[in-house]
Amino acid sequence: MRFSEILEEYGQTHLMQFWDELDAAQRATLEAQIADIDFDLIRRLTTEQEATVDWAELASRAEPPPAIRLDDPAPSPSRTAAVAAGEEALRGGQVGMILVAGGQGTRLGFDQPKGMFPIGPISGRTLYQTHADRLAAVMQRYGRTIPLFLMTSPATDAATRAYFADHDFLGLDPQHVHFFCQGTMPAVDAASGKLLLEEKHQLALSPDGHGGLVAALDRHGCLETARTQGIEYFYYAQVDNPLARLCEPELIGYHILAASEMTTQVVKKRFATEKVGNVVSIDGKVQIIEYSDLPEEYATATAPDGSLRLWAGNIAIHVFNRSFLEAAVDAAGGLPFHRAHKKVAYLDASGRKVDPETPNAIKFERFVFDLLPTAQRAIVVEADAAEVFAPVKNADGAEVDTPAHAQAALLDQHRRWLEAGGAECAPGVRVEVNPRWAMDAEDVRQRIEPGTRFAADTYLR
Ligand code: UD1
Repeated sequence: MRFSEILEEYGQTHLMQFWDELDAAQRATLEAQIADIDFDLIRRLTTEQEATVDWAELASRAEPPPAIRLDDPAPSPSRTAAVAAGEEALRGGQVGMILVAGGQGTRLGFDQPKGMFPIGPISGRTLYQTHADRLAAVMQRYGRTIPLFLMTSPATDAATRAYFADHDFLGLDPQHVHFFCQGTMPAVDAASGKLLLEEKHQLALSPDGHGGLVAALDRHGCLETARTQGIEYFYYAQVDNPLARLCEPELIGYHILAASEMTTQVVKKRFATEKVGNVVSIDGKVQIIEYSDLPEEYATATAPDGSLRLWAGNIAIHVFNRSFLEAAVDAAGGLPFHRAHKKVAYLDASGRKVDPETPNAIKFERFVFDLLPTAQRAIVVEADAAEVFAPVKNADGAEVDTPAHAQAALLDQHRRWLEAGGAECAPGVRVEVNPRWAMDAEDVRQRIEPGTRFAADTYLR
């Protein structure tokens, strides 16, 4: 079928509206973008029957997930056994790291990739540098390389690559840093289902969600690379969480000992409507219901002891079996698309740019956690939010999840470690610890003379 016939068939001929005004290069761009669109899929996604999941019905059947809880004094397997198993995998070079950094970070109001946001309270280190430091420290401790698979999107790819290249790969070995760019999905006009033009020669495209990970890993040969390097497990984290304990042996160990295919680290939600996904169990399968999809009556329901019944908050830290992701490649066509009603700037019929004030468009995203119910076995492990979770989502001034909150959480953590090691920090003094200097409280205890006093802001590196 010819190009114009396809557009005609799907009611999208407006995309060629400015064709006569375009030069050859612009025509080629537009043609390539249109050729990439699965119009059948878009049609299905914009028709009602495909679109809706009955979240209230799902939520009514949701139970708290079976989990290894923090307050369990004698979990089975024990924490020591889990750490030992995780350390063995790390020493054996069986672990790779996936960091997802394709999001557009609109809420933060930062016009570069979020990974380049300076988060170090004293050092001014970026999020990327913070993660690279932690990874380097883990590699140093276990004496093995951990390849980093960094997922970008067209919005973050070029700037991320340039940033790494200009900064000596943040101290990592360039050979073991693999950038791979996720795919995109077109935004459609919410009322008509028509694709939007961002420019006369460009569709309005946005990243296809972190669920685009599976296809992107495969498309860019990352699964193959990992396989040939003997990687059996991937540790997965989001770039926006500077407290994420990348490649934590305990989580990896629990994953291995439980023969889990996909493991999720969770924290106890701070309050009922906290903006985190809810990790639940439905019909015996672990699943995540996004905060925006969970009706309030279920979010606020309490257990007999007064605590939140659905307590487990998703911090988007997982461990995957490589083989599970390989199997998911074929099944990934089946990962559902979530629809988000968003403001998307577009060209109107006269070619004028419109910057809407209210949501006008639908964006489609896949979520990586929708793989959970497809796992043969998926376990959940609780961690202390103060040690593992301080996401940078909103610009300073917002009530939660701002850079200032994350910096305070980092400083609190480092103060706790230093004080537990016998040091003293004068009131109001800020001490930032680089993981290359100490990765945890135990490291600090070994490095520091009891009685050491910090009287001025200090960066330990
Ligand atoms: C996400 C989770 C939520 C969890 C919270 C923890 C979803 C839908 N929800 O919420 O359950 O509690 O994080 O912080 O994920 N990203 C990509 N490509 C994309 C979209 C996102 O790489 O196409 C990356 C972003 O760079 C970011 C992460 O995924 O690192 C999270 O995306 P974001 O949109 O900020 O998710 P939240 O709604 O905050």
